[in-house]
Amino acid sequence: MGSIGQFYRSTLGKKAVMAVTGLLLFGFVLVHMAGNLKLYMGKYEEGVHAGEYAINVYGAWLRELGSPALPHGAALWIFRVVLLAAVLLHMHCAWVLTRLSWAARPVDYRRRDVIQATYASRTVRWGGVIIALFVLYHLAHLTLGAVGPDGFEHLRPYENIVLGFQVPWIAGFYIVANAMLGLHLYHGLWSMFQSLGWNGPTLNPWRKRFAVAFAAIVTAGNVSFPLAVLGGLVR
Ligand code: HEM
Repeated sequence: MGSIGQFYRSTLGKKAVMAVTGLLLFGFVLVHMAGNLKLYMGKYEEGVHAGEYAINVYGAWLRELGSPALPHGAALWIFRVVLLAAVLLHMHCAWVLTRLSWAARPVDYRRRDVIQATYASRTVRWGGVIIALFVLYHLAHLTLGAVGPDGFEHLRPYENIVLGFQVPWIAGFYIVANAMLGLHLYHGLWSMFQSLGWNGPTLNPWRKRFAVAFAAIVTAGNVSFPLAVLGGLVR
């Protein structure tokens, strides 16, 4: 335990924790976006789920994961605890590393900033804060139904999404927050490769393409949902 604590306290340890938790969170946003594509599948025509929206069936299935070995909802709760721990560790390391970099900043830092910082890296820290606020709003909106228009119903994600995104400011907020998430994913993936030591003249162009492609896929999917509701494609 002592050596784990020591590793966590080191700068290298924090970068490794950021990379590993970042990978997990990245996997989550990718799978979550892919799951939400079921919004476009509309209703099942026949079979046991006839007349039910595909995304609602998927939401119910998530709660049955691991059954009958695990009780109803258990796998989802285990996953929620792991996800929350990853978010907290990711944010704690980001906070400590940010303070370290402020403390180490040379007096004439402006020139170095202009040369090294890309738009994504400069916005990554406050972008992270905005994403955290977005996630809190998002949970209150689509998981708890505590904010947003009246009419929220548990286990009816299709109807809840449509109801929410028909409100232009809510749709707009999701679009802006997910664009920020895109920049964060791009920079995060790029830095993760750096922390894992996957850099160098031959690897860097691939690293960049990979980071751009994956950030773009997640962002395009996520931004498409509010746009599809606003445009009347999903209603
Ligand atoms: C337009 C984009 C998005 C849509 C339409 C969407 C939709 C949803 C819906 C419908 C739920 C509730 C599922 C249920 O209770 O059955 C949910 C839960 C959740 N979403 Fe999203 N989401 C989006 C983007 C995001 C993003 C970008 C993140 C993270 C950065 C995120 C994180 C979460 C989390 C943590 C949950 C709670 C999962 C749980 O424990 O039940 N979502 N989302």
